[in-house]
Amino acid sequence: MDPTPSGRASRGVASVVRLLMLTSLGVAPLAAQTPSPFAGDPTAGRSLFLQRGCLHCHSIWGSGGTLGPDLAIVGAGRSMQQLAGMFWNHTPRMIETVRRRGVKWPTFTEEELANLISYVYYVKLFDEPGDPALGARWFREKRCVECHSVGGKGEKVGPALDQYANYIAPIMLAEGMWNHGPRMQYKQVSRGVAIPTFAGREMADIQAYIRQTSSLRGRKVRFLLPPQPAKGQQLFGAKKCVRCHGPEGRGTSYGPDLRTATLPLRVSEIAGVLWNHSFQMSSAMQARGFSFPRFEGAEMADVIAFLYYVRFNETGGNSIVGATLFESKGCTQCHSRGGEKSIGPDLSHSKAPPTSLGLATAMWNHGPAMYDRATTRKIEWPGFEKDEMRDLAEYLRDLATRAPARKAIPPVTSPPARLP
Ligand code: HEC
Ligand code: HEC
Ligand code: HEC
Ligand code: HEC
Repeated sequence: MDPTPSGRASRGVASVVRLLMLTSLGVAPLAAQTPSPFAGDPTAGRSLFLQRGCLHCHSIWGSGGTLGPDLAIVGAGRSMQQLAGMFWNHTPRMIETVRRRGVKWPTFTEEELANLISYVYYVKLFDEPGDPALGARWFREKRCVECHSVGGKGEKVGPALDQYANYIAPIMLAEGMWNHGPRMQYKQVSRGVAIPTFAGREMADIQAYIRQTSSLRGRKVRFLLPPQPAKGQQLFGAKKCVRCHGPEGRGTSYGPDLRTATLPLRVSEIAGVLWNHSFQMSSAMQARGFSFPRFEGAEMADVIAFLYYVRFNETGGNSIVGATLFESKGCTQCHSRGGEKSIGPDLSHSKAPPTSLGLATAMWNHGPAMYDRATTRKIEWPGFEKDEMRDLAEYLRDLATRAPARKAIPPVTSPPARLP
C-alpha cells in the first residue's frame, strides 16, 4: 500500500506537516474539528497523504518532495470533481514510478479519496505567515498609523492594536475591522482619510507586523479552532447574508454571486475582499433597514471557510455533454454500453457512478489495468479538464438507470451521508 517510507521518514514528514499546521497556519491541530456534513474530512485526508507517499513527490508550502507541483498551490477554487480529474490525469506517471519501485498500486475507497482531495483543497485556505517588513509599510501607506498605535508607535484616534498580536492568522484582525467598520469608516471619511482596501496578502503582512512590533506582555499564542464550513453556512443564514447573497451564496438582485468571488483566494485575501466591500454593504444594509452584522470568536473564520467550500461542493453535471465525452475521450474503444464484448467491462452496469466520487475512485483503482491495455493498443490516455469528469459521471449515472436491470445497484451505504 504505502510506497516505501521508513517509519522514521514518515514521522519526520508528519512532524513537518504538524509544524506547518501549528505554527505558520495559526490554527489548532485539526483533530479538534467536529465532523462537518461537507464532503471529505481533511484530517483523515492528511493522514492518507502521508501514508500513501504523496509527500515523496509533492510538497505543501515548500516542504516535501519536488517531483510534482506544490499542492498548497493547486487546490483552491476547484470543485472536488475537478480535483479528482487532475488527480486521475497523473496516473501514468504514478503507475510507472510505483512499478519501478516494485510497490503495490495504492487503492482508495470513495471515502478515502474524498478525504484526500478535501485535504488538498483545505491546505490552500491557509496562508504562509505574512512579511512584517511589508506589513510596516502597509500600516504606514494605508494610514492605519495615523489613527492606531502598535508597540506605542502611532496615533491614538482609534484603539491600540497590540491585542491582535495574540494570533498568527489575520482572521481576528479582519473580524475586528469588520465589526468596527461602520464607525471606523465614518471617522475616516470625516478626517479625509481614504478608506483603505486590501489586495493579495497585505492583511497577512499587517498581522505579521503587529506580532513583531507589539509590546503586549505575557503574550501567548492563541490557536483558533480550524474553521468549520458547516458552522459558517449556519452563520451565513443567521447573520442575514442570505438575504442579499441567496442560499449557497448564489446571488440575488440585492447582492452578487459569491461562488466565484473567492475562487483563487486564501484566508487573508478573502478577509480583505470582505473588508473591501464592507462599506458598500453597510450602506446597502442601511438602505434596507438591516442591522450591520457583527462577528464573535471564530465566526468570521467559519463564514470564510463556508465561502471557500461553496465551490468545492458543487455537484450536478450535464449528461448530454458526458455522452459526447465518452466518445471523444476514447472510452468507447474499450468499454461497451449494451452488452457487446469489449476490452473493458460494460459500463452500463457499472456500480461506480451513483455518488459524486464513484467514477473517480473506480477509475483510479483500475488505473494500472487500463494503463496496460492502453499501452499495448497505443490508445491515448484519457485526461480530464474542468467539469469533464462530473459530466461523464452524470452520463454514466443516466446510463445505469436506463440499462435493463441485470443486477440491482446495491444501495450505497456510508459515503452519501457525507458526500452531497
Ligand atoms: C511518483 C511521484 C508522485 C507521487 C507519489 C504522487 N504524485 Fe501527484 N503528481 C506528480 C507529478 C509529476 C505531477 C504533475 C503532473 C504530471 O506530470 O502528470 C503530479 C500531479 C498531481 C496533481 C495535479 C496537480 C496539477 O496542478 O495538475 C494532484 C492533485 C496530485 N498530483 C495529487 C497527488 C496525491 C494526492 C498523491 C498521493 C496519493 C500523489 N499526487 C502522489 C507526482 C507524484
Ligand atoms: C481615520 C482613523 C482610522 C484609520 C485610518 C484606521 N482606523 Fe481602525 N479604527 C478607527 C476607530 C475610530 C476605531 C474604533 C471604532 C469603534 O469604536 O467602533 C477603529 C477600530 C479598528 C479595529 C478594531 C479595534 C478593537 O479594539 O477591536 C481594528 C482591528 C482596526 N481599526 C484596524 C485598522 C487598520 C488595520 C487600519 C489600516 C488599514 C485602520 N484601522 C485604519 C480609526 C481608524
Ligand atoms: C443588504 C444586502 C447585503 C447583505 C445583507 C450582505 N451583503 Fe455582501 N454584498 C452586497 C453587495 C451589494 C455587494 C457588492 C458590493 C460592492 O460591489 O462593493 C456585496 C459584496 C460582497 C462580497 C464581495 C463579492 C465580490 O464579488 O467580490 C462578499 C465576499 C460578501 N458580500 C459577503 C457577505 C457576507 C459574508 C455577508 C453576511 C455577513 C454579506 N455579504 C451580507 C450586499 C449584501
Ligand atoms: C485502453 C482501454 C481502456 C480505455 C481507453 C478506458 N478504459 Fe476503463 N477500463 C479498462 C479496463 C481493462 C478496465 C477493467 C480493469 C480491471 O479489471 O481492473 C476498466 C475499468 C473501468 C472502470 C471500472 C469498472 C466499473 O464497472 O466500474 C470504469 C468506471 C472505467 N473503466 C471508466 C472508463 C472511462 C470513463 C473511460 C474514458 C474516459 C475509460 N474507462 C477508458 C480499459 C479502458
